Amino acid sequence: MSRIAIVTGGTRGIGEAISVALKDQGFTVAANYAGNDEKAKAFTDRTGIAAFKWDVGDHEACLAGCAEVAEQLGEVDAVVNNAGITRDGTLHRMSYDDWHEVMRVNLGGCFNMAKACFPGMRERQWGRIVNIGSINGQAGQYGQVNYAAAKSGIHGFTKALAQEGAKFGVTVNAIAPGYIDTDMVAAVPEPVLEKIVAKIPVGRLGQAEEIARGVAFLCSENAAFVTGSTMSINGGQHMY
Ligand code: CAA
Repeated sequence: MSRIAIVTGGTRGIGEAISVALKDQGFTVAANYAGNDEKAKAFTDRTGIAAFKWDVGDHEACLAGCAEVAEQLGEVDAVVNNAGITRDGTLHRMSYDDWHEVMRVNLGGCFNMAKACFPGMRERQWGRIVNIGSINGQAGQYGQVNYAAAKSGIHGFTKALAQEGAKFGVTVNAIAPGYIDTDMVAAVPEPVLEKIVAKIPVGRLGQAEEIARGVAFLCSENAAFVTGSTMSINGGQHMY
């Protein structure tokens, strides 16, 4: 019987590539999404991967959503916390709502998903949690105090939960992507993005599949001794 994985924000961008990579690796995948029904349906038609709608920033919705996945597909063995949003702006212009929403979804989502799925993994003595952090959580980024704080929090969350999961066969790791060719990065003003790309030693944006391959490894049997680690996949932009 195949293992079950949930990928949050799993129907678009990096999340879509992760969902597909885990399916190719033999997982039965549930791709969570928050809003865009049309894109989620197109994703399911394209990939054959079931999509489940809930807001990862909503604690109760997460518990209910994960229970529904377990009922339909089976107990959850792997969670990839990929869902994330940006509300960029310099601090003096950033509203409390922009701060709070990014913390609620990006960091709160990791807590909510772990609360829903970690206890079962612990009981069954096998689990994989992969949290998608960011180069901007490692190095900071002008105009992103909210996002950088949430992503930095994800790296701390990963190391703490890794210590709790280790003796139960549950590994918890993070991936810190650099600038990847997705809608999120496309929203960065072009002149700003040009300057950023100029600082990437590999000389280009990353591809979503390049992140997905890292996630697939961390979710595999071969990665059983890797826990509490952060894999930076950023074209050399930040060597951490
Ligand atoms: N360092 C220092 N100064 C900077 C700077 C930087 N990195 N970026 C901009 N500035 C300065 C500009 O030079 C400018 O200064 P002057 O007025 O003296 O010329 C000033 O800040 C204002 O710059 P903008 O015109 O860009 O200001 P804005 O208010 O229109 O926009 C911003 C500000 C929203 C932060 C915009 O610069 C922006 O979107 N930046 C990109 C932020 C970013 O990289 N986001 C990543 C999104 S992708 C992602 O997050 C995925 C991931 O994990 C990597």
